Amino acid sequence: MNFRKPPGIEDIFPDRIPLWNHVTGSARDTFRNHNFREIIIPIMEFTDVFRRGIGDETDIVSKEMFTFEDRGGRSLTLRPEGTASVVRAYCENGEYNRLAKAKLFYIGPMFRAEKPQRGRLRQFNQFGAELFGDDTPWHDYEIIAMVNDITKRLGIPNYSLLVNSIGCPDDRAAYVDKLSSYYRSHADELCKSCRERLRRNPMRLLDCKEESCTRLKKNAPRITDFLCGACTAHHSTLLSILDSTGITYTEDPYLVRGLDYYSKTTFEYVTDALGGQNAFAAGGRYNSLVEHFGGKPKPAVGFAAGIERLCLLLEDTYTGTEAVDCFIINLGRENIMEAASLAASLRESGFSCDLEYGGGSFKSQMKKCERENARTALVIDDSSRDANRLKLLDIEKREETEISFDILYDSLHTVLNRDE
Ligand code: HAM
Repeated sequence: MNFRKPPGIEDIFPDRIPLWNHVTGSARDTFRNHNFREIIIPIMEFTDVFRRGIGDETDIVSKEMFTFEDRGGRSLTLRPEGTASVVRAYCENGEYNRLAKAKLFYIGPMFRAEKPQRGRLRQFNQFGAELFGDDTPWHDYEIIAMVNDITKRLGIPNYSLLVNSIGCPDDRAAYVDKLSSYYRSHADELCKSCRERLRRNPMRLLDCKEESCTRLKKNAPRITDFLCGACTAHHSTLLSILDSTGITYTEDPYLVRGLDYYSKTTFEYVTDALGGQNAFAAGGRYNSLVEHFGGKPKPAVGFAAGIERLCLLLEDTYTGTEAVDCFIINLGRENIMEAASLAASLRESGFSCDLEYGGGSFKSQMKKCERENARTALVIDDSSRDANRLKLLDIEKREETEISFDILYDSLHTVLNRDE
């Protein structure tokens, strides 16, 4: 029997939750600022959604999916990413597909059977957004500007935005031809996986991190030299919008991304602080995916960010904690009811509150109060109610005041620095 968690899967304990909530909360606030609406997509889909959406030849589909049969013999897969599911949902609910524009975001776990390491998990969490509308580079800009806003809100240090265009299918066909013949002429210098990639999906060669393959990449043909007039115009307009809006970027003609649905713009937010896993957010335009899923043609663009990777980037500097407003220290023997009803009315009034039903000495309850990270302690004893007095301790300032019950809520508001 095995009672341990599977490899690459994490428990997230309460000490990591304040940062987690800070990251997801900042993303939610930013999505709202940009008028994106939340969609909750299923954790699993029929396998075809991902095979069709992401592409059979990608690493994700060919090697990394958690796929199983349901009791009816149908093939299901735990979602490895959100875009294919959002597009499936968008097409299945025709009402959305009929709108001129739809702006959707999602937050939740994704599953990929990758080799686990720091920042690379088998169950990981993403937030992401998809903008269905038209083919204007302004929509690419809006998605990139939104990721920029999130990184600014979070204070992500030292990152770069890499931008490229992988053109339309015709551009890519011409490019892949040139790329394949370039790599074929260097086949003996390629790593084993890349020899296979050359046969199945030559653009994936550009992602290889093996030294001999990265060396070859330096002289490989560039997709940007193969773009048609329309794709060149789209790309240069996007770059000039980024220039005029002050969004700093680096052009990377080899940024082709590991999912097959992209057309035109691709981008990645990268940092050196994550070791091998350098991207913390990524995305691009996908103009044909809605049609592939049987929807009315609708160009789209989106991104997704890895929540665990963002947390790793912030864990050394983030100091936020989740504190409980007050901890009731009950020094009497007979008044546990009194303490419990005080807790109930504090909670009803919107204060978070905890107490130790077993009582104990002041010292032991104070220890618990500190362990729970309470901001105030309320000390009551057997005579408190009759004497209409209790003690309010401001833990941070180490100040103690004796107050009457009638001013308890006002005093708490003041200490906790809250508006009435
Ligand atoms: P992706 O590049 O596969 O794109 O993933 C986006 C982000 O998810 C990555 O930059 C990374 O931060 C995080 N991530 C990916 N795999 C892992 C992993 N194994 N462990 C931890 N974090 C990971 C997509 O998923 C596309 N759906 C993005 C998109 C949306 N494109 C258009 N719309």
